[in-house]
Amino acid sequence: MEDKKKMHGTWASRWTFVLAATGSAVGLGNIWKFPYIAGENGGGAFVVVYLFCILLIGLPIMVAEVMLGRRGRLSPINSMRLITTESGLHGVWNGIGWLGVVAGLIILSYYAVIAGWALYYILEMASGSLHGATAEQASALFSKLQADPQRLIFYQSIFMLMTIAVVAGGVTRGLGVAVRTLMPMLFVLLVIVLVFSYREGEFSRGLEFLFNFNTEALSGEGVLEAMGHAFFTLSLGMGAIMAYGAYMPEHARIGTTVLAVGALDTLVALMAGMAIFPIVFANPVLEPGAGPGLLFISLPVAFGNMPGGLLFGTIFFVLVSVAAWSSAISLIEPAVAYLVESHKLNRLTANLLLGGIAWLTGLGTVFSFNIWADYKLAGFTFFDFLDFLSSSVMLPVSGMLIALVVGWYMKPGVVQEELADETPTVFNCWKTVLKYISLASVAAIFVIGIYKTFG
Ligand code: PFF
Repeated sequence: MEDKKKMHGTWASRWTFVLAATGSAVGLGNIWKFPYIAGENGGGAFVVVYLFCILLIGLPIMVAEVMLGRRGRLSPINSMRLITTESGLHGVWNGIGWLGVVAGLIILSYYAVIAGWALYYILEMASGSLHGATAEQASALFSKLQADPQRLIFYQSIFMLMTIAVVAGGVTRGLGVAVRTLMPMLFVLLVIVLVFSYREGEFSRGLEFLFNFNTEALSGEGVLEAMGHAFFTLSLGMGAIMAYGAYMPEHARIGTTVLAVGALDTLVALMAGMAIFPIVFANPVLEPGAGPGLLFISLPVAFGNMPGGLLFGTIFFVLVSVAAWSSAISLIEPAVAYLVESHKLNRLTANLLLGGIAWLTGLGTVFSFNIWADYKLAGFTFFDFLDFLSSSVMLPVSGMLIALVVGWYMKPGVVQEELADETPTVFNCWKTVLKYISLASVAAIFVIGIYKTFG
């Protein structure tokens, strides 16, 4: 195994790790999903619950995941093998690595389809076709896109090629260079859209909506949604963060690094909300609780009817695409690293193979919006089924196993050694929260989620 440890290379610095992990974390989850679920759950109170979930469930598990990766220094599958052997644990714990790798590919398969919508909207915005659009016209445009498999496949394919092109370049020259370019770009674009929203939108109404503590609109379901989303938005339980942890420099402090990633991810989600709601409120016919159509129907209408809106709308969809791109590369990397280590494939072949599998699976998602829309599996369309399987089953199960193995089963000395730079108080706090609060919460998300669906 020793020589395998050097085969992928490491991040140029701790800062590159922060950018890479933030790139993974900040994605469609922050810019598409967070604003619309916050909107559906009434805003402020949901945001507070979400922040607690990040702090008490997300960050402790993220520390555990980075720690496992850095200890193993290999793909999640082989890192887990090494760690279970070192701590004399049963091989069943290796399942954590497999779950992560497979879940990553499943998510990538549909993530590429949705990211493809964002690519399509860059062109639609730039072409001016949405100038002065009414809600009906924007809704018809979105329906037309969804009903057209060829167009969906075209954009899905472009996005998948963009993803494998980066990952084929390797850790230092591919992923590292990409995140050092894309993340500052994402931030600048977000600030530009935010300034536009401040100047042209109903900024104070947007802020009030996002930060006003309105408990009435928050249901038990909303709390559950906040918990699940905290997990998804930080890219936990899918091997992505573990794989990235494996490329972290030896002496970087995990605790503060993870804190930086969590803070940046939350900042981007809040900034996205602060940019989007004032723009939506600027148009009297639009609703903040519009659901998944918030980004692809409401916003295009809002942009299309504002001065300078087409330019800023185009910038906005470039922003969404960049965010999705830097997340997608982290979804395929764990599986690529595994094939390179264990099956002696070169990076390009591994990428083509895995990208091809994810692309093929993605066709099911494409068709679930049109020709397969009526085929249901246990009441789910193909896309809903994959989303349920990955986000509501594989992800919490993997999170529970990570909290269990790090909190309860690994040799305490090993855990302590990897986190030796933390003060004893920080270390003890983290471990206690992980062992009890994070573990119990993820278990609850899982059980209640399954019960709600099938019970
Ligand atoms: N965190 C990403 C988002 O919020 O869009 C999605 C994601 C990326 C989930 C990578 C999991 C992952 F491994």
